[in-house]
Amino acid sequence: MSDVLNPPVPSDANTSVPLKPLGKVMAVTSGKGGVGKTFVSANLAAALAKLGHRVLVLDADLGLANLDVVLNLYPKITLHDVFTGKAKLEEAIIRAPGGFSVLLAGSGMVEYSRLTPEVRDDFLRIMSGLVPHYDVVLLDTGAGISDVVLFAVSLASEVLVVATPEPTSLTDAYATIKVLVGQQKRQTIRMVINQTARIGDGRAITVQLQQVLDRFVPTEPGRPIKLVHMGDIPADPAVRQAIMRRQLLMQTTPSCPAAMAISQLALKLEESVISRNR
Ligand SMILES: Nc1ncnc2c1ncn2[C@@H]1O[C@H](COP(=O)(O)OP(=O)(O)OP(=O)(O)O)[C@@H](O)[C@H]1O
Ligand SMILES: [Mg+2]
Repeated sequence: MSDVLNPPVPSDANTSVPLKPLGKVMAVTSGKGGVGKTFVSANLAAALAKLGHRVLVLDADLGLANLDVVLNLYPKITLHDVFTGKAKLEEAIIRAPGGFSVLLAGSGMVEYSRLTPEVRDDFLRIMSGLVPHYDVVLLDTGAGISDVVLFAVSLASEVLVVATPEPTSLTDAYATIKVLVGQQKRQTIRMVINQTARIGDGRAITVQLQQVLDRFVPTEPGRPIKLVHMGDIPADPAVRQAIMRRQLLMQTTPSCPAAMAISQLALKLEESVISRNR
């Protein structure tokens, strides 16, 4: 990982020119908080690692990071130390129990919850240093559509929106997608519907959202928005149990319904996203 020490900074890092998203990077975002972004990111990473991919999850929820809690990892060196120049990037990358790497935000990142030119540059420098070393980098973003969240998403070539069937979650997912289409000119948004009650719920929800987008969100001619339904994850009591034990669901109960759904999601992503970026 020698070039992690001196990662190249893209030439447009100091300007407001829209960034060219980095390949192999997928942002996991939602709009509404508490819908399962961190749970999905961590367990999806484990499922992709099991398929043989080199995966890194970056805790991009800078202000309210909690990937460390979910994974029960409390490293001495975190992204905070890299941002403040106290440590090298490679020192902050640690191994998670599921066979993937993580870069945890750590506490003291509140000052990074505002997108200043410094935060932007630090983020870019770190991302460009990381990407060459992994088959896929997952960005576990914070809730909402703050400029930090949108900036993190702008770095990703793929966006996975996590929503639950609740109307509040769907309204926020819709608002997020609208912004991503308007500001980032995204055309393809991948959807995963979490905490579903019945088979088929997620697909029906995605179709409904697509209809609303087609009707109310203007796009440039020939550039329609496409929501791609990647899968559903059922509401499953095993999820809460795993989180309470601070373990990965993929390790505690790999054959429970939610874990099986995440394995399916990993396979679908492998087929539609990762193999294409090789
Ligand atoms: N499929 C599921 N079945 C049951 N409970 C779930 C499921 N997915 C998530 N949860 C519950 O939702 C909680 C919140 O999940 P998580 O922390 O991943 O959300 P988040 O979107 O990352 O939240 P934040 O916006 O605060 O970052 C979990 O602690 C868990 O209890
Ligand atoms: Mg989270």
